[in-house]
Amino acid sequence: MEASPSEYSVYSSVQRYDAKKVLDEYAEKIKWRNDGNDTVLDIGCGTGDVTVEHILSHIPVKFRKLVGVDISQEMIGYAKRTHERKNISFEVLDIEGDEDDIQRFLVKHPERFDHVMSFYCLHWVPNQVKAMKNIYNLLKPNGDCLLALLVKHSIFDIYKELSKTKWKNLMSSPDDFFADYHGRENPAATIVEILTATGFKNHEVKIYPGKMQFTGYNEIKANVTIINPIWRKMNTEEQREYLKDYLNVAARLGLYKEASNENESTFSFSYHLLVVYTVK
Ligand SMILES: C[S@@+](CC[C@H](N)C(=O)[O-])C[C@H]1O[C@@H](n2cnc3c(N)ncnc32)[C@H](O)[C@@H]1O
Repeated sequence: MEASPSEYSVYSSVQRYDAKKVLDEYAEKIKWRNDGNDTVLDIGCGTGDVTVEHILSHIPVKFRKLVGVDISQEMIGYAKRTHERKNISFEVLDIEGDEDDIQRFLVKHPERFDHVMSFYCLHWVPNQVKAMKNIYNLLKPNGDCLLALLVKHSIFDIYKELSKTKWKNLMSSPDDFFADYHGRENPAATIVEILTATGFKNHEVKIYPGKMQFTGYNEIKANVTIINPIWRKMNTEEQREYLKDYLNVAARLGLYKEASNENESTFSFSYHLLVVYTVK
């Protein structure tokens, strides 16, 4: 994902709402320590807003450290400037990286983490086996993890349609950019298989269906473009054309309704958020 951090911070109400909902429901399952020394890792923290607004408010008042990591240097720069403080830090890390990358990160955190969390990030990772292996490696023995990722989204359907058109040069398949759960009958079973093969135990996996609507052309444009992995690869003319094609596909799929007053146009979509709680 290559959104600009300040734009993402403004247009991430769905993500923030869901992170809060998941944490409200699951925080009591997490095996918090009773010595005030919890160490927490937030993978794909982006701007760090969810890290400090929601994760921080659910961890014990006294904790050892909360570390946010993200593949994007730009996001980490923003998170550092905005949210870094005592016990809270941010670093660049690719969760799909090689074992060496993880080992380099662990030089600074040799004791590993009691808890790993990740919200709205792991669907951006095509190699799920590698990501889960890395998460396992980042946890202490008996450490637990809470992950929330999209497994179905109307937007994947739009990408799939567009990848059959002239835009296939930029995205020949959504699977080049995303985990391929969206094409599966039973994504929960697939993820359970991966978790079990990795060595995790006691997994609880649930799927939460959601619906959302954006209203007004400007809000729609902002929301659909900031999370689009190829948007920033196009020049202005291509972006204008792509957005037109994108909205035509969305209209055909019944997601976009153009109104004569553009402030009343709507973009409605449904999605499935998969939530995993599991233990090393
Ligand atoms: C939609 S944002 C979610 C940010 C935040 N967790 C939230 O809930 O608002 C997804 C983030 O995942 C990051 N990301 C994507 N692939 C990643 C990877 N392989 N390793 C680490 N972070 C990744 C992106 O850079 C982006 O900041």
